[in-house]
Amino acid sequence: MSTRSALSLLLLAALYASLVLAQQDTSIVYPTTAAATATPLPSAHGYTYAGCYNETTRIKNAGGVRALPDMSSANNTMTVSSCLDFCAQGNNGTTMNYAGIEYGRECYCGQYLSALSEEIDAPAHCVYACNGNASEVCGGQLAITLYNLTDASKTGTAWSVVSGQPAWYGFAAFVMLVFAAIL
Ligand SMILES: *[C@@H]1O[C@H](CO)[C@@H](O)[C@H](O)[C@H]1NC(C)=O
Ligand SMILES: *[C@@H]1O[C@H](CO)[C@@H](O)[C@H](O)[C@H]1NC(C)=O
Ligand SMILES: *[C@@H]1O[C@H](CO)[C@@H](O)[C@H](O)[C@H]1NC(C)=O
Ligand SMILES: *[C@@H]1O[C@H](CO)[C@@H](O)[C@H](O)[C@H]1NC(C)=O
Ligand SMILES: *[C@@H]1O[C@H](CO)[C@@H](O)[C@H](O)[C@H]1NC(C)=O
Repeated sequence: MSTRSALSLLLLAALYASLVLAQQDTSIVYPTTAAATATPLPSAHGYTYAGCYNETTRIKNAGGVRALPDMSSANNTMTVSSCLDFCAQGNNGTTMNYAGIEYGRECYCGQYLSALSEEIDAPAHCVYACNGNASEVCGGQLAITLYNLTDASKTGTAWSVVSGQPAWYGFAAFVMLVFAAIL
């Protein structure tokens, strides 16, 4: 390995580290109560609003498992759309069947919804505004604004229209980075 390729690798590692650090929240903005006029989005990105559901972490003997156990993400700019996009892109390209937002800023995805989670009264429990958009509802305390995948064909197009580039673009960029590191 030449000095140059070692340097390129170092640069890549530094870039990666800064990306990882940037993702960590240092200041959590606590959610506020949603305006009375805010209603959950009926549908978006192939998902349909399914109701307000119980988080399961506090349920006795459930082992602290989440209602949507497969993926999660949290930040101060969370919106319904950004959570649905996150779950649609999914784990390794597998679109998640369920997406839910809790506590104004936490996004969870699952291939299934825990059988222990049950529908609860939305106006009483899913009362927080999304941290990233006050006119959207993003769950509540131990309460999930749940979305159900109803049209998988839309999630892919929603994502590629937004990014405006076909998937091979990302792959080509990756190949170029690898080449840059080797040279
Ligand atoms: C999600 O959608 C499927 C298929 O339409 C339906 O069978 C299921 O009951 C829905 N789940 C919830 C929690 O609404
Ligand atoms: C959530 O579900 C559990 C168990 O099913 C129940 O005991 C609890 O009261 C529910 N929480 C709310 C806020 O309804
Ligand atoms: C916040 O999280 C959502 C869902 O994972 C993501 O789409 C969005 O890009 C994130 N925003 C920031 C600023 O990291
Ligand atoms: C991602 O999917 C590919 C193809 O199905 C598989 O070979 C690979 O092991 C998966 N990677 C992870 C981290 O699950
Ligand atoms: C906030 O959410 C509402 C309802 O989904 C939407 O119409 C509006 O465009 C959003 N505002 C921003 C700044 O994204």
